[in-house]
Amino acid sequence: MTKTPLIISTDPGIDDAVAITIALFAKQLDVKLIVPTWGNVSLPKTLTNTLKLLAFLGKTIPVVRGASQPLLRSAISAADVHGESGLAGFAFPAAATTCLQPGLAATAIHEVVAASSEPVTLMQIGPATDFALYFNQYPDDLAHIKELVIMGGAISAGNWGPYAEYNVAGDPEAAQMVFKSGLKIRVAPLELGHQAYVDQTVLKQIEQTGHVGHMIAALLTNLHDLNTNQGVEIYDALAAGILLNPDMYEFKPAFVNIETTHAYTYGASVMDFDHFFKQQPNAEIGVTIHRTDFSNWLLATIAAIPQGH
Ligand code: RIB
Ligand code: CA
Repeated sequence: MTKTPLIISTDPGIDDAVAITIALFAKQLDVKLIVPTWGNVSLPKTLTNTLKLLAFLGKTIPVVRGASQPLLRSAISAADVHGESGLAGFAFPAAATTCLQPGLAATAIHEVVAASSEPVTLMQIGPATDFALYFNQYPDDLAHIKELVIMGGAISAGNWGPYAEYNVAGDPEAAQMVFKSGLKIRVAPLELGHQAYVDQTVLKQIEQTGHVGHMIAALLTNLHDLNTNQGVEIYDALAAGILLNPDMYEFKPAFVNIETTHAYTYGASVMDFDHFFKQQPNAEIGVTIHRTDFSNWLLATIAAIPQGH
């Protein structure tokens, strides 16, 4: 099987940690580079969290520092949800600092794409800052990108404003640049997370799969606000799911435009499924996912991770 080369832009972040773990052990994927960026918590913390996760999982993957700030606005924070460290709930080993390579993220991404014999897939599970900067700096690379999978945006109600979802709201200008890139884009919006919550029974089963499952369950139990009696919403794992098991989803084409001018709608992802704006669709939006399909897939995927790690 030809593995799909993958670059991950991420702001770990508890649900990021789940998505990164899934991607690292997926036999269909070859994770070439991880780019921690500012987001749920500051860049120093997301960088440390990435390196600690790699150490725990026993994976040696190149890591390069991403952006420490959005393009224009000042950074927002979700430490109240993910904990001050960004990975509340589990004591990770020391960071795998040998994975960290010097230089700028855009250059590192370019070097991976230039060296790849296969078109590279991008997965964006945090703010879009780094991919926007990369597209700006290396526009010719777009022809060598297979697709971009995004966890972000909301079809209607947001979680960082009435219409703004956190990743998009964090850097609306960058998100707009990404949606205007012309790339094939598939999106896991906030609504999929609401539909595909993982209930406490499945969380318990995940916990019992081994010490990776134990780590994931410990983190998810500490995902404040999103872990209710009903279950926990693991948004970023839905982006990994698009890459690894797309049949779980129903997708619909939409023209996505990001609001970057007005105060009360700043960061809103306006998704036009009905050609109101007479614009060609620029993304496939995941509109439905069956909760048990996702839970069964997530449990089976984590259970399949080698017990040694
Ligand atoms: O709105 C959910 C998104 O914001 C997820 O990627 C979560 O990790 C946070 O970054
Ligand atoms: Ca994230």
